[in-house]
Amino acid sequence: MLSLFLFQISLNRMIKTLSATNYSIEIGPLTESSFQDLLTNKYAHSRKVIMVDENTHDNCLEFLLTAFDDLTDAEVILLPAGEENKVMEVCFQVWNALSDYGIGRNDLVINLGGGVVTDMGGFIAAVFKRGVDFVNIPTSLLGMVDASIGGKTGIDLGAFKNQLGVFKDPVAIFIDPSFLHSLPENEVWNGFAEILKHSLIADSSLWAKIKNYRNIDDLYTADLIEAGISIKLKTLLNDPFEKGERKLLNFGHTIGHAIEGCMLETDSPVSHGHAVAIGLLLESQLSNNRGILSNEEFKEIEETIKALYSPIELDEEQIAIVLELMKNDKKNSEGKIKGILIHSIGHCTFDEVFEEEEIRKIL
Ligand code: GLY
Repeated sequence: MLSLFLFQISLNRMIKTLSATNYSIEIGPLTESSFQDLLTNKYAHSRKVIMVDENTHDNCLEFLLTAFDDLTDAEVILLPAGEENKVMEVCFQVWNALSDYGIGRNDLVINLGGGVVTDMGGFIAAVFKRGVDFVNIPTSLLGMVDASIGGKTGIDLGAFKNQLGVFKDPVAIFIDPSFLHSLPENEVWNGFAEILKHSLIADSSLWAKIKNYRNIDDLYTADLIEAGISIKLKTLLNDPFEKGERKLLNFGHTIGHAIEGCMLETDSPVSHGHAVAIGLLLESQLSNNRGILSNEEFKEIEETIKALYSPIELDEEQIAIVLELMKNDKKNSEGKIKGILIHSIGHCTFDEVFEEEEIRKIL
């Protein structure tokens, strides 16, 4: 897994490469990246399977097939879009299809999509025949700066997010910011919540730079994506398997995941990024209520989140469900809800006990 990261800028000026010990993350036009080399060399004799969802099938697949002749004979597997479909039933269907296609361990899965596709496509590849190689080509901002990176693959179990999964790194990650134009703008803003999160946990100067971003064009840049990824890579450096500091990347997620899980079961599900944004605000509120985070910095966070994200209304019954879901969070231990608190912008701590009553109060 990830044990030593070397940051480098590749010689190709169109592509920025962030290197890990056993895979690289290339940011820039896909056609300029080493994706073609991979297809031509390492996987020249492999069967290729492209995982898409309905959105990337319609908006991104044609580009991939047109630009890379080696994919002409690839099998395309269409996953139903949306977090509500990141479930075992869909995996069973795909594993059966992979068996029918005769896919083996030397073949290659290409995950073309947002966080749901890279999470579930990675999981499907990681456990099929004990592991088929896969590459991630994330097409959403959330996927580019967070979900596709760090080897977490998995699916949901009912309303419990990412309860089933394995750590397995992709062979490579190719991030082409031009795919962001295939998304509705609000989806790009939702992904921006993960970059806000990265800055709040580890980089106050990045926060100062991006907290006033209100123009969608600010979000399409390779520099912003690189800044968001670099923080995550540094956090993974010492803790690829989330025994300690990787837990910091879950800031906003203890409450955010529970809200997302609760709303998943309703007629008005909320996207992961939107739920995380609200989670960041509420976990900052929790920190402020405890006197850990200053009023001034809390206000700054509150103003930014409220300017960018709409409130999510929860009734009493839903608040009870959110609290129940939080009790099953993966980071809990000793029967206690544990999450992340923010002490100042750029400095958070993990394994903090959240009391049920204080959460109820802020919800
Ligand atoms: N999305 C949080 C992590 O990868 O650890």
